[in-house]
Amino acid sequence: MKKNEKIICHCNGVSEKAVVKTIHQKGAIGMNDIQRLTLAATGCRRCFAQVEEILLSELDKLKVNGLQLKINFNEDK
Ligand code: FES
Repeated sequence: MKKNEKIICHCNGVSEKAVVKTIHQKGAIGMNDIQRLTLAATGCRRCFAQVEEILLSELDKLKVNGLQLKINFNEDK
């Protein structure tokens, strides 16, 4: 972790950048993944909502970039 990175989880010293990196580079798609891979939100859990907000925001960016596969099984031809 670099000196000027914004710390999100003070219990475990996890930065916002580490959370984002875990989503984009390690494929985290849920809070369980984030907690397991970074230890963020595994202590007092005060940061849980903030970490979850980052997760949802980054997952939205992935959808915008077209990385989500959408299949409509109800489509009639
Ligand atoms: S601040 Fe993240 S678990 Fe306590």
